[in-house]
Parts: sequence; C-alpha cells; structure tokens
Amino acid sequence: MAVQSELETLNRDSKDWNWLWWFTVPLYPYSKRRTLRAEVVRDTIWTFDQVQGIFYVATPIRMTAVKLEEGGLLIYAPVAPTPECIRLVNELVAEHGDVKYIILPTISGLEHKVFVGPFARFFPNAQVFVAPNQWSFPVNLPLSWLGFPAKRTHVLPDDGSETPFGDQFEYAILGPVAQGIGSFGEVAFFHKRSRTLLVTDSVLSISDTPPAIVQLDPYPLLYHARERASDAIQDTPELRRKGWHRISLFAFYFLPSTLDTLDLLPSIWDARTAIDHSKKNYFGWFPFRWKDDWQRSFDALRGNGRLFVAPILQRLILNRVPKETIAWADRVANWNFERVIPCHFASPVQATPQQFRQAFAFLERQPSSEQAILPEEDFGLLKDVEAGLIKRGITPPAKEKI
Ligand SMILES: [Fe+2]
Repeated sequence: MAVQSELETLNRDSKDWNWLWWFTVPLYPYSKRRTLRAEVVRDTIWTFDQVQGIFYVATPIRMTAVKLEEGGLLIYAPVAPTPECIRLVNELVAEHGDVKYIILPTISGLEHKVFVGPFARFFPNAQVFVAPNQWSFPVNLPLSWLGFPAKRTHVLPDDGSETPFGDQFEYAILGPVAQGIGSFGEVAFFHKRSRTLLVTDSVLSISDTPPAIVQLDPYPLLYHARERASDAIQDTPELRRKGWHRISLFAFYFLPSTLDTLDLLPSIWDARTAIDHSKKNYFGWFPFRWKDDWQRSFDALRGNGRLFVAPILQRLILNRVPKETIAWADRVANWNFERVIPCHFASPVQATPQQFRQAFAFLERQPSSEQAILPEEDFGLLKDVEAGLIKRGITPPAKEKI
C-alpha cells in the first residue's frame, strides 16, 4: 500500500515521466519520457510506446506485453521503466498476474538492451531470456555488468520448445550477422493464440499521421515542418503531418537525398532571421532546405504503410547474409499471423505472412514483389557509408542476391 501511494504521488507530477538513467542513451526527450499503453488484443496483448530521438527526430519505441494462458505476462523488448511505465504495467499485473518472462530479442539494438536490467529489477520473479551471442560496445562486458540479473538471465535456446513458454510461442532467430563494430541479430516471436508476430528492428511500417506518443509533445514535428529559420512555429494537424513525414525521412536515411543542408557558418548567420531564439528552438538554428520532390521520397518510403526493411539494414547488414535472411523470413512467413507489432513506428500492422515476406524482396535478384523496394536514388548517404566501410575493411562487400 505504501508503494502504491508513493506511486500515486509520483503520478501527479512530472517525476512520473522521469528516466534517471537517460544518460545511458542520451537521446531526446532526455530525462522526460512519457509512456502510452494501448490494448491491441482484448485482455491479451498491450503495447507501451515511448519516444526516442536525436535533434528532434522523435520516433516511437515500443515494448509489448502478452498475457500467458496460465496467467502472468511475457514482456517483449522492455522500454525505460519510468514510474509511469511501471504503474501501467502493474495495472495489468493486478488483473492478469505477475511479469513472468522478460525477453531481450536483439543483440544489436542498444536502445532496447539498456532497459532490460533496470526493468527486470521491478519484477524480481521474472526470468529474463536474451537473444544468443550478446555483445556490448565498446567492450564486451558480461551481461551482469549491464545490470542483467545474473541468477535469472538465460540465453534463448535454438529450440524454442525447451523454454517454459514454448507451448504458446514460437520464435525464430536471425543472425548473428557480423558487421564492423559488433553483430546484428534479432528474435521474432509468434504468439499462436492471438496470431500476432512480434519483431524488433527487422520490419516496420510508417503511418501517414504522427503516432499518438509523438503528438504528446508536437514540438519536434512543428520544428521540422518549416521551410526556413525565419518561419514561425505553428501548430495545425497538417503541419504535424508534414513534420512527421520529414522526421521519418531523417530517421531512415539520416541525410535524405531530397534535403540540402546549409553549412555551419551560413546556417548560424541564417539563424539571426529566426523569430524565436530560445534554447528549445536551437537558438533559431534551422540548417535544412527541403527540395521540391521531398514528398515523393517520403511516399516511396512509406509505400502506403506496407511492411519494409529499414534502409540501413538493407544496405549495410542484411545484404551481407541474403541466404540466411531469406531463410529466416521464410520460416517466419510459415506462421499464420494476422498482425505484426514492430518495436518502432506504426503498431499494430495488419499484415499477412506473404506481406511480411515481400519486405525482403530487396534481397532477390528477381524480386517477387516490387512493393517494398525503395528507389535507388534515395540511398545516397548510405551508399557512401557502405563504400567507406568496405574500403577500410570494416565490413565485407555485399553478397550476390538470391
Ligand atoms: Fe530498435
């Protein structure tokens, strides 16, 4: 009861959103993280959205809770355990039972890995299962040093039926794919009863309008909706949408080919024309000039919301192991899911196994579908990065398509 009243007090002020460990992943919104819970399948699946980002490229990051048949919860890819987040989980615990299993489904996604240890401390009865072949950058620390509870952390076995939740879930491990500074790997989970596929970073879908969690603080959307430093920040649904489209282009292409950036000195000189010189507005600094065809680039990226593979994975990672990736995608596409919940961008995504499989057509010499193939001209910066990494011997060249 004491704990409950303490949490209730916290709810009433912004401490509720605090994430004191923000410095481990120093990304926007820094120490203030809100959490939005959504019930995806009645009394069975819930998602918890938070925002992450850098330079106002604010996008959702998500964990998923699944109710187990025997009672209790399985948590896939924990997010920051702020008081608000823990309170929202505990509301489910009160109704459906304790957190029994916590899954770290990636070996590369630092933005997911950092929260597992701190999250697990709130649920001392939970067993933690991690994707095999974990590594940490810059040095390979044992997981216990990253705050993982040593006595209750296990590596997911190759054979999912050996796990205590193996009767309700199937999973498929992709990777590890060796890359420059570590390895990429991810575990897709299939919840049989609800026909739901959980993935981390492998596939995603972009919504046309900004997700609710991003609209709690629309400032990043409005910042990017402008054309010039001298434009005032205005808030309309249409500007929020425009800002969201541009943020999506930043998130996937880093420097979209449909964007010109001003050099540092001219952009600082340009900042004098801004109306708002507050810190929040980066002192008026807005070094971006979007080209006329930027909306074309966004429309191609979004592809009406179909599932696709992030350009960075297409260009730098999965094209190193096309055979293994296609084999994994085929295995996943054998499950009869009807929705996909990725850890980023839109959720839930209504999609068939075939639509999931089409996202990997970029690895095929003769693509079975063109739906999720992105325009070559939009890969500008990533192509340069790839060439640089190959030249320095950091990453091997891409393999032949299948
Ligand atoms: Fe991720």
